[in-house]
Amino acid sequence: MRFHILTLFSGMFEGPMGESIMGRARRRGLISVHVHDIRDFTHDRRRTVDDYPYSGGPGMVMKPEPLFEAVETLRESGELGEASPVILLTPQGRRFDQRLAEELAEREELALICGRYEGVDERVREHLATDEISIGDYVLGGGELAAMVVMEAVSRLVSGVVGSAESAANDSFTTGLLQHPLYTRPSVFRGWAAPDVLLSGHHAEVARWQRRESLRRTLERRPDLLDGVELSAEDRKWLREMGYGT
Ligand SMILES: C[S@@+](CC[C@H](N)C(=O)[O-])C[C@H]1O[C@@H](n2cnc3c(N)ncnc32)[C@H](O)[C@@H]1O
Repeated sequence: MRFHILTLFSGMFEGPMGESIMGRARRRGLISVHVHDIRDFTHDRRRTVDDYPYSGGPGMVMKPEPLFEAVETLRESGELGEASPVILLTPQGRRFDQRLAEELAEREELALICGRYEGVDERVREHLATDEISIGDYVLGGGELAAMVVMEAVSRLVSGVVGSAESAANDSFTTGLLQHPLYTRPSVFRGWAAPDVLLSGHHAEVARWQRRESLRRTLERRPDLLDGVELSAEDRKWLREMGYGT
């Protein structure tokens, strides 16, 4: 998976994209991150990327020319495929979630445009971006952190990036439910014991406990998710015992 980032703050990506899962995945060649400075696509001495809004009012707007030129240069040089998505990060976009991460993980490469200031000229949204993504209903100072969120969530789904394939498959939302509680050693910590069943070595019983606790947690915290999940007869029985649908 190749990511192309268009940003005014290239330095922001150095730490997060060089550590842990992302750093390892890059070193192993499973993903690559190409950060492009939008100012490199300006032609005036001051490398201007923003201007006053026509409507008046506060703040500055990112000019369209450098952004169009950046994407067109990448496409013409073959660095970015003609059909590869160009995603504008914006609080007004489609809300990012695990389903969207799964959708994006099927692509070979993505370009991500990070806005700043009051946002980008509308013509970028209309005629350059192929998709618009928001990472949530709040406003950040820029699209860089949003781009990193998208990249990390998508990269975890790229084969080989996460240690064991199982650990991504069992994650919250991937199964449609929230994940069950997790415990590790010691079995008793400050008098708080891990559930006996987890120490029993009885795989079928452990799997049943995990499923039941996953349902319980989802019911307690995100009951809305239960509507979109395929439930077995046993799941339904447990949920009824927990007071769901009664
Ligand atoms: C201060 S925000 C601009 C918000 C804009 N004035 C609005 O009300 O929609 C600057 C940039 O941060 C990024 N950004 C802010 N919040 C975001 C979010 N929730 N998801 C994705 N990108 C976001 C976008 O790239 C945006 O252009």
